[in-house]
Amino acid sequence: MRVTHLSLGDFRNYGAAELPLAVGPNLLIGRNGQGKTNLVEAIAYFATLRSHRVTGDAALIRSGHESAVARMRVRAGEREVLLDLQINQGRANKAQVNRNSVRPRELTRWFSAVAFAPEDLIIVRGEPSGRRRFLDDALLARHPIASGALTDYERVVRQRTSLLKSARARGSAALSTLSVWDDQLVEYGVQIMLARRELVRDLSGPLQDRYRSLVGSDHSPALSMSESVADAIDAAHVSRETFDTHAAASVSRETLATQFRKALSAVQSREFERGVTLVGPHRDDLLLSLNHLPVKGYASHGESWSFALSLKLALAELLRSESTAGDPVIILDDVFAELDASRRASLMAAVSDYEQVIVTAAVEGDVPNDVEWNRMRISAGTVTPMTGASDESADTSERAE
Ligand SMILES: Nc1ncnc2c1ncn2[C@@H]1O[C@H](COP(=O)(O)OP(=O)(O)O)[C@@H](O)[C@H]1O
Ligand SMILES: [Mg+2]
Repeated sequence: MRVTHLSLGDFRNYGAAELPLAVGPNLLIGRNGQGKTNLVEAIAYFATLRSHRVTGDAALIRSGHESAVARMRVRAGEREVLLDLQINQGRANKAQVNRNSVRPRELTRWFSAVAFAPEDLIIVRGEPSGRRRFLDDALLARHPIASGALTDYERVVRQRTSLLKSARARGSAALSTLSVWDDQLVEYGVQIMLARRELVRDLSGPLQDRYRSLVGSDHSPALSMSESVADAIDAAHVSRETFDTHAAASVSRETLATQFRKALSAVQSREFERGVTLVGPHRDDLLLSLNHLPVKGYASHGESWSFALSLKLALAELLRSESTAGDPVIILDDVFAELDASRRASLMAAVSDYEQVIVTAAVEGDVPNDVEWNRMRISAGTVTPMTGASDESADTSERAE
């Protein structure tokens, strides 16, 4: 699929903006702080219903305004669809598909994208929350329906946790209602755990292929889940090294639900002491390894980048192979500046056969020059299409920062 046009109103630093996009490679070029990321952030929002760089929507609304609007025309094969989003301060966001009101989460059914950004290194080197976020964005892209389970689960964890906190203050009287929350925690939690296990299983092959073609050698990149449920009960009786991603994904819901309940009773007294929900997918982690060593703490900077890029490329490939609506849109936000020449070339080669690629860069020199870019200059919240060959003199004079 591809975005043919994006319109913004009071979004970030844009009062009003029109961005026409072409099939194939698009390049948004401009000095730092001009609004390049803001444009791709708006596009990526339609795929995940959240920003790829901040939590919460407040920062997306142009300062001094009450709401932001983003409208996107998306073409998938012969079908064109108009997606509308209104992000509101202090009240619910609104969405439309072809001018019919829908719940915002419906938008993700109509658009899919995989966004790469410098922050992706956090997936590999940062805290578990960054990896859970990667998993959950991937689940949303893969099964738009999963957004229901994800939001329901988050809500249940919040409510259950506040009940635990109040039980600590008021004694065990509040606990009779806990079992209601436990039921829901297990129900939604199991759905998420299984969907993540399937994702890990299905990403593993493409990850190895993508890593090998990016780096030119095989470092056996591998993925597995580290689950708080299994840790709590040690039920699986398998060490992490032998955790079989194929077997893990084919466990039945019932089996996993039983394990989840066992884990809850195993941690119950600690939960009361601490007033925290201690087991479930919100406490799980995605383990990444190269040559059987954890990436975090062992891999070099370059290897970590290669892993992060391969993971995203693997996701794009998986989405492409499963979707009837065609390729996800590939967004590369300021990524080339992070990479050496050989990784730049291999990354570009890896995405070149996607229907649409949107790249941002501060200077042309950072992006491969053997590409027929559709170029747009971004300057202080205005978009100007550039025709013909690159305007190198302007680029060098506008060297970033
Ligand atoms: N909610 C907002 N209201 C007004 N301006 C904003 C808002 N959020 C970000 N900005 C401005 O947008 C600019 C950054 O845009 P960004 O897209 O990140 O730039 P870049 O071209 O470097 O990617 C900054 O000048 C920032 O002050
Ligand atoms: Mg940027």
